[in-house]
Amino acid sequence: MKIGKRFASFLLAGLMIFTMSACSNDGEKTSEQPKEDSKVESQTEGKPNSAGPMEIKKVGIAMPTKDLQRWSQDGENLKKKLEEKGIQTELQFANNDIGTQISQLENMITNGCNLLVVASIDGSALTNVLDTAKASGVTVIAYDRLIMNSDAVSYYATFDNTKVGKMQGQYIADALDLEHKDGPFNLEIVTGPTDDNNVVFFYGGAMEVLKPYMDAGKVVVPSGQVSRQECATPEWSNQKAQERMENILSSFYNDGKKLDAVLCSNDATAHGAVSALAENYTGTWPVITGQDCEITNVKSIIEGKQAMSVFKDTRALASAVVDMVTALSEGKEVPVNDTKTYDNGTGIIPSFLVEPVAATKDNYKELLVDSGYYTEADLK
Ligand code: BGC
Repeated sequence: MKIGKRFASFLLAGLMIFTMSACSNDGEKTSEQPKEDSKVESQTEGKPNSAGPMEIKKVGIAMPTKDLQRWSQDGENLKKKLEEKGIQTELQFANNDIGTQISQLENMITNGCNLLVVASIDGSALTNVLDTAKASGVTVIAYDRLIMNSDAVSYYATFDNTKVGKMQGQYIADALDLEHKDGPFNLEIVTGPTDDNNVVFFYGGAMEVLKPYMDAGKVVVPSGQVSRQECATPEWSNQKAQERMENILSSFYNDGKKLDAVLCSNDATAHGAVSALAENYTGTWPVITGQDCEITNVKSIIEGKQAMSVFKDTRALASAVVDMVTALSEGKEVPVNDTKTYDNGTGIIPSFLVEPVAATKDNYKELLVDSGYYTEADLK
């Protein structure tokens, strides 16, 4: 069984770096419990890990880009939280360039990082560099996006991505009252790139909710672009989302047809859709979804252009990773709460899923301002 194999290789790596001076592995619960804000209970936290304590020399944090607010926040949060624990870190952003990310990872390994936390750009492009990591006894945690086709990945920390998609789909279903109304309502779909494994779950979760209404004829997609591939946005680029939306509007809505909803998988694509609509559409404003609660998009929610976003608290995800790292260093079993969903092509990767929350005009203050994620001034 895959977890067995993975555990055996981790055991080997753990033995290689076992240090007698590390904290004792007495199997008792540590004070480091999963954080309240992680929301989802771990199934394994606190148990001893027979690989023994791992000496964490330095943690390499590889983030895809600084261009999107969320990844800057993710990277900085993680760095800060690990350093507060006295752990050295190296943080790199790869400008959404796969080659850059690969060489950053190579450098991290050369620079003595023996634990890598990686939010991949292309989940399938890291097999070789992570083979090198594994051969050097480096432990790998996939962050937010699953790294595919690599048996070097030990753990995965992410949000419940299917739930993200379901929340977006359900928001549209509720806003259009699809349960009670026949429509037909016009929908367009703008999702993320085909090389981001998360899109399988975002799109899949949303379709789980919306497909029955599409099959019943209550929801139609005038562009005919429905599959994940047809609705993809390369690099999650807001510019590319805008261009695709402009083409859809000029080709399929040039006769005054009403657009009722745009399922956008994240805030960057929602931003693109809003820009396209602002310039090329005069009908009743559609329901537009998003994800990440980027500042620009929260402002758009306040203005009533974007209807909702999904709040993924980067502080909670960083805490989940810090809990994983702490457990490894203390020889405790790594906290995970999902051991069946995320197969990266080499087997199931034990995962910790953090709960996402839907954010709207009605609850954004409580969710984002009262929790200290943003200040009022950030959203002005
Ligand atoms: C993340 C989203 C993000 C998107 C674009 C996805 O993998 O889960 O939160 O909006 O990438 O960076």
